[in-house]
Amino acid sequence: MRRAVCPGSFDPVTNGHLDIITRAAQLYDEVIVAVGANLSKSTVFTPTERAELIREATKELDNVRVDHFEGLIVDFCRRNGISAIIKGLRAVSDFDYEMQMAQMNYSQAGVETLFMTTNPLYAFLSSSLVKEFCKYGGDVSGLVPANVLHHLSARLAQP
Ligand code: PNS
Repeated sequence: MRRAVCPGSFDPVTNGHLDIITRAAQLYDEVIVAVGANLSKSTVFTPTERAELIREATKELDNVRVDHFEGLIVDFCRRNGISAIIKGLRAVSDFDYEMQMAQMNYSQAGVETLFMTTNPLYAFLSSSLVKEFCKYGGDVSGLVPANVLHHLSARLAQP
C-alpha cells in the first residue's frame, strides 16, 4: 500500500489544507493527516480538537485518516510505514523553511518530501490569518469548512 502523510499544525484546518489533502488522496492509496506541534506557534485548539475538526471535514474521503503525533514527523513516518511527506507550497515565502525541513528529514531518515502547489484560490490563506480575521469579526466562511467556522467563532468569542 502506498501511504503518504500530510503533516501540519492545522490550527485550524482551512480550505487550502483540504484542497491539498483531497489531491493527495487521489495520488496515494492512503493519506494520513498528522497533527503535530510547531514549537514556534501558540494554538487555539488542542491537538485532539484539531484532529477531530479535520476528521469531520474529511469524512467523505474514504482513504484519509487523521491522527496526531508528538516528537519527530520522521518517527511518525517510520511507525506508520510512510515513505512520503506531502506539503503544500503557497509562495516563495514558504519555500526556505519547507526546503530546510525536507532536507533535514531526508538526510536524517531518508523520508522524501513532495511539494504540491497550492490552488491559486487559496494562495493567500493561512490558519493565522483566518484566526486574526475571525477574532476581529471578519467573515471567514468560504475559507474554512463549516464545522471549523462554527467551532472557531465559538472559541474566539470566549473571554
Ligand atoms: O503547519 P506547520 O506549522 O507548517 O507544520 C509544521 C510541522 C508540525 C509539520 C513541523 O513543525 C513538524 O514536522 N513538526 C514535528 C517535529 C519535527 O519533526 N521537527 C523537525 C522538522 S525538520
